[in-house]
Amino acid sequence: MAAKVTHRTTDPSQDKLDVLAVLVFENEKPSARPGLEGLLGNAAAVEKNGDFKGKAREQVLLYPQNGAKAERVLLAGLGKREKASLEAVRKAVGGIVTKAIAIKVKSVGIMLSGWQVESALDGAFVAAAAAEAAVLAGYKFERHKTSSAEGEESEDGVTRVAKKEAPDIAVSVYSSKKVRRAPAAVELAVLVSESANLARDIANEPANHGTPTRLAKAATDAGAQAGFKVTILERADAKKLGMGAFLSVAAGTEEPCKFIVMEYEPPEGTRGVAKRGAHVLVGKGITFDSGGISIKPADKMWEMKFDKSGGCAVIGIMHAVARAKLPLKVIGIVPATENLPSGTATKPGDVVAAMSGKTIEIQNTDAEGRLILADGLCYAARYEPVTVIDMATLTGACVVALGEVRAGVMGTDEQLLADLKACGDHTGERVWPLPLDDDYGEHIKSDAADIKNLGRAGHAGAISAGYFLKHFAPPKAKWAHLDIAGTAWVTDGGRGYVGKGATGFGVRLAFEYLKRKSGKGSPATKAQAKAK
Ligand code: BES
Ligand code: MN
Ligand code: ZN
Repeated sequence: MAAKVTHRTTDPSQDKLDVLAVLVFENEKPSARPGLEGLLGNAAAVEKNGDFKGKAREQVLLYPQNGAKAERVLLAGLGKREKASLEAVRKAVGGIVTKAIAIKVKSVGIMLSGWQVESALDGAFVAAAAAEAAVLAGYKFERHKTSSAEGEESEDGVTRVAKKEAPDIAVSVYSSKKVRRAPAAVELAVLVSESANLARDIANEPANHGTPTRLAKAATDAGAQAGFKVTILERADAKKLGMGAFLSVAAGTEEPCKFIVMEYEPPEGTRGVAKRGAHVLVGKGITFDSGGISIKPADKMWEMKFDKSGGCAVIGIMHAVARAKLPLKVIGIVPATENLPSGTATKPGDVVAAMSGKTIEIQNTDAEGRLILADGLCYAARYEPVTVIDMATLTGACVVALGEVRAGVMGTDEQLLADLKACGDHTGERVWPLPLDDDYGEHIKSDAADIKNLGRAGHAGAISAGYFLKHFAPPKAKWAHLDIAGTAWVTDGGRGYVGKGATGFGVRLAFEYLKRKSGKGSPATKAQAKAK
């Protein structure tokens, strides 16, 4: 299932649409609004009876008469005007697209033009947010459902895989002509949200399909499509490079591990490209985390197919950066392996050396994410990076601290942390800083090696994991770590505009950061935007 989203500046009442959606602030009557005459059908009655107030998530479907071109009009609540936000727009649009899919219509228009929404928030940002939400809400992972599709044998020759493409829905976002930056903003929003859906598509694969080999193929395909170089390091290559931490996690599985390296350089002749220094992204690619010998309880273990989400996000970010042709050098690194117990698996107490030579006592084989990221971060150093951002479903402790609302962010540079927080608030992929005082380093001191991979039970688990990574971050780079354990997937009803399964968290956030670094589209205040 996918939504095709385009931008229009024409009058939506003149288009033949299955559903024309109108966003409404709480207690502001749509019938009082010019431009909707004849379209609103029984809206006056709806208002009079108080059936629709414009509260967040509220919707009412109207059937206009008098030869209106739209078949239906959907009023969608935005909540209070004082609380107007891009996130409120995303949630309302997510609700609209979800509804449209549920009633099986093919075309939806979302009316922002000349409208109260544009007057409360920056019009181009509103249009972009609406487009993002439509692309994200239109996504569903259905590859392995045969009921709605003709089956086809998959590559492994065992499983039947859905072949027929699920039906698409066309979504038009209408904003007024005077919002001059809207078309370009929507184009970029659609691009990055499609890349987020690509990340979701890989992350949603169950572990028997979404193997490290499959991740490597996804990266290679994305590179060929978008224009970046992909190199896959095999187990033997990792051995030669001394990636003892990564290989210790891969020791228990028979599934070949892959260390994925993606390199993007702007096309020749691109203006404003910094001569030196790359921005490096490192993503955790554990395609299944059983815990290894320190095995996890059976309950919810199936969710650990999503433990590759950080790595999938990095593939998605590379896809977006290359398609947008950002004038920056961007590198993506994804160490990918399963974490399984077996006769060859790493045992608690084992000591290994990472690529930098630093030795690690592995006290718990379930704290494997930090081990593979250690070598990912060591490998990043060869690019003389200006910034290194890693993203990982790293700790249950982060879920305890921040839930599914915000990811944890830690790092060595206050400005980078502040920038990521600002980008998170702008995109809705929100983060919150956690401290990295040296005192936390005490938690991972080891008697047997330089450090150990386990902190103190019940004490700041997200932070001791972050501090562990700090030991391997390239010292000259600004480094940040995103713990996305709570935000990477959804098992309950969904988050307004992102349905069940992998969320693609990190793609829109990191892309926004890189976009701002490249000088494209830093956030304008409303006043600045108006002056342009
Ligand atoms: N992938 C898990 C973290 C996780 C758990 C993410 C639940 C999302 C939901 C990670 O590899 C892990 O097992 N971490 C351990 C670390 C502990 C052994 C120090 C954890 O958080 O329990
Ligand atoms: Mn684990
Ligand atoms: Zn894990």
